Formats: sequence, structure tokens, C-alpha cells
Amino acid sequence: MFKIHRLDSVESTNSLARNYGYGNVIVASIQTKGKGRFSRDWNSPKGGLWFSIVVKPERRDFEYTFIASLAVLSALGVGEIKWPNDIVCSNKKLCGILSELISEGNKCKIIVGIGINVNNRIPKDLKEKAISLSEIKGKKVNLDSLLNKIIKKFEELSKVDFKRILIDYKKNCSTLGKNINVKTLKGEISGKAIDIEHDGNLILEVKGKRVKLYEGDVSIL
Ligand code: BTN
Repeated sequence: MFKIHRLDSVESTNSLARNYGYGNVIVASIQTKGKGRFSRDWNSPKGGLWFSIVVKPERRDFEYTFIASLAVLSALGVGEIKWPNDIVCSNKKLCGILSELISEGNKCKIIVGIGINVNNRIPKDLKEKAISLSEIKGKKVNLDSLLNKIIKKFEELSKVDFKRILIDYKKNCSTLGKNINVKTLKGEISGKAIDIEHDGNLILEVKGKRVKLYEGDVSIL
């Protein structure tokens, strides 16, 4: 059972969640220092859904990211998964997920941070890349009921075997079968996305060879 803590303005729900134990969910109306992947800033004005779930590391950390992607997708009712942890609609970002493994002494926790553009205005410079749920639906969306749906689904899927999670993740992942470019910390690579393995890695076919990727920013070619 998760306990939801609602706050007004925080620097980052992921940073704040470090002070909470397993089973707590921190949600804020505004984040002043929202964090994205690769240390990027995450624009978090009023109207969006910005929250972090503190979980006990009973599974590998990427499994919680996959579970969160499926939970968000199911609650939104629109969109597709872009490997590894974005939900997109018409190739524009609707949701980003940042999972962090925190260790304090001999204790570990996983913080699953989820940011969804819901009723917030998308700044002009991001219009090409990002979209909000209210834009898609053509009406305002209730943040509380969306959050409750996601948490319920996240809890339910947390009990499901990873084999099943991976099947569902792959079924909803629009990256597979496409020619893509991936920017990784080591450089860029292009090829056809052919599989996602049981360890969460993406398999690219590059000049007839299989190349394994465990992180990166994907763009469809
Ligand atoms: C990404 O770069 O795609 C991941 C973005 C994750 C943003 C969410 S918003 C709630 C939580 N708190 C943060 O500071 N970041 C995550």
C-alpha cells in the first residue's frame, strides 16, 4: 500500500524522496529544480504531474522503470513507450521517467521519478519535442485521479513476473522494428532496433551485427 504526500513547491520530488521510506509517494505541484536523465533540467510548472515513488529494491532497478512505463501508459490510455523510459505520442514526449538507486550504509532504495505533461503549458522551444495530455484529449485532466490510477497499476504490476512485464513492454514499445539513432554516453550509433533483452538492453542491428545498448537517447530516423 502506497502513501501519497502532496506538496506545493519543491526543488525535486526525487531529491526529497531520499528522506522517505519504502512505500511513500511524493507529489508536488511545482518543481524548481526538476531533474531529467543525464543531469538535464526537467521543466516542471504547475499543471503537470511530478512525483516520485520510493520502492524497496526487490527487483533490478530497470524493472521498476519498465513497470512504471506500463503503469503510466495504462493510466493515460494514449501513447507508446520509447525505450528506455519515455512515453511519447506522435513522437513527442508526454512523460519521462528517472529511476535512481540510492544506497545509505547497508540500506538501498529505488526512487522512481515520473514526470507527465498533463495540463501544463509546453514552452515554445519545446513544442517540437513535447506534448501534454490535455492537448491530446482536448480538455483538462484531473491530476489526482490520474495519479491514483498510476499508483494502483504500479502496485499491481510490481507483483508480476518480469517475463510477462517484458512481453507487455515490448508490445507497447514503438522503438522496436524502427531504424533509429542512439546518443549514448560513449557516442552515437545508428541501426535497426530488433529486440529488448531480459536485462533491459536494446539490441540494435548494425551492418548485420547485433549491438547491445544499455542506455541512450533514441531518435527515430
Ligand atoms: C527524463 O529525462 O526523461 C526523465 C524526467 C523525469 C522527471 C521526473 S518529474 C518527478 C521526478 N522528480 C525529478 O526531479 N525528476 C523526476
